[in-house]
Amino acid sequence: AKDPVRVLVTGAAGQIGYALVPMIARGIMLGPDQPVILHMLDIPPAAEALNGVKMELVDAAFPLLKGVVATTDVVEACTGVNVAVMVGGFPRKEGMERKDVMSKNVSIYKAQASALEKYAAANCKVLVVANPANTNALILKEFAPSIPEKNITCLTRLDHNRALGQISERLNIQVSDVKNVIIWGNHSSSQYPDVNHATAAGKPVRELVKDDEWLNGEFITTVQQRGAAIIKARRLSSALSAASSACDHIRDWVLGTPEGTWVSMGVYSDGSYNVPAGLIYSFPVTCKNGEWTIVQGLPIDEFSRKKMDATAEELSEEKALAYSCLS
Ligand code: NAI
Repeated sequence: AKDPVRVLVTGAAGQIGYALVPMIARGIMLGPDQPVILHMLDIPPAAEALNGVKMELVDAAFPLLKGVVATTDVVEACTGVNVAVMVGGFPRKEGMERKDVMSKNVSIYKAQASALEKYAAANCKVLVVANPANTNALILKEFAPSIPEKNITCLTRLDHNRALGQISERLNIQVSDVKNVIIWGNHSSSQYPDVNHATAAGKPVRELVKDDEWLNGEFITTVQQRGAAIIKARRLSSALSAASSACDHIRDWVLGTPEGTWVSMGVYSDGSYNVPAGLIYSFPVTCKNGEWTIVQGLPIDEFSRKKMDATAEELSEEKALAYSCLS
């Protein structure tokens, strides 16, 4: 039998945490033959709720679940973890300035980076979900210098999956037959969902949809604004889809993407596609042997270039704001 993998979920008493931990315990993240030990972190005001989640995990009697650590101590939470899914963060509340929210998250991600740096297993893979996801991941990278930068990523797979879903609905084609959309840039409304290289049942999506006005307009805004639409409908933000996409992200990263298929991941830019190096930016990637590689050589038209630059610009501003909170 395989040794268990230790998976950290921060913010585990929250909405996404509640959807995510049972998925992990059922093998949806790491595979149906991979035992796991869950490490769940939250803050003291949520300690009792966190303990309730732990009780439910015991009650669900998951065969793959070999242990549960539920704690408000960041060192205990990070010790020995092989995968870290960072869902905890400070939400933007009404009337708060962007800088104040950034400042809170910068201090959280700085502290948690240091704990991962010191106590996580070597080669720990990190996925940041909490917003501002790209910039939180960048801060985490800065303060965990011994974790390879290739191991620090943020979630844009939800946006990617949303784009697949919109194309599938529009064409009335199974979502599993749609592939190779791209989310470029920030996990925010400046992201650029790109279908120029996407296919449905093997044919180019643009040829099948035959409506460039929709693809260059409403399709893009629908994907960009989908998070807000879910909040409006549910009066709560996306949780099951975020949790499921986080599992997709880690599963593909660890177990590999299928031949001929790429996915979107927020990763540390090396300057590919003239995206400024040193930002965490969402790119199309393929994964093999536990490593992602940016898909190279895709032709970029002028329309796409502008949108890719605009979201990079927003990320550069966020980065500057985050750094101003450090000093
Ligand atoms: P939530 O508010 O239900 O849960 C967040 C949890 O984090 C709470 O239990 C809170 O106590 C905890 N927390 C706060 N500070 C913490 C700290 N320093 N250490 C550990 N835990 C801490 O929020 P929800 O709905 O679960 O969303 C979590 C985050 O994910 C939010 O930042 C949200 O904006 C983001 N998100 C990102 C998505 C993406 O695609 N990247 C999609 C959906 C949400």
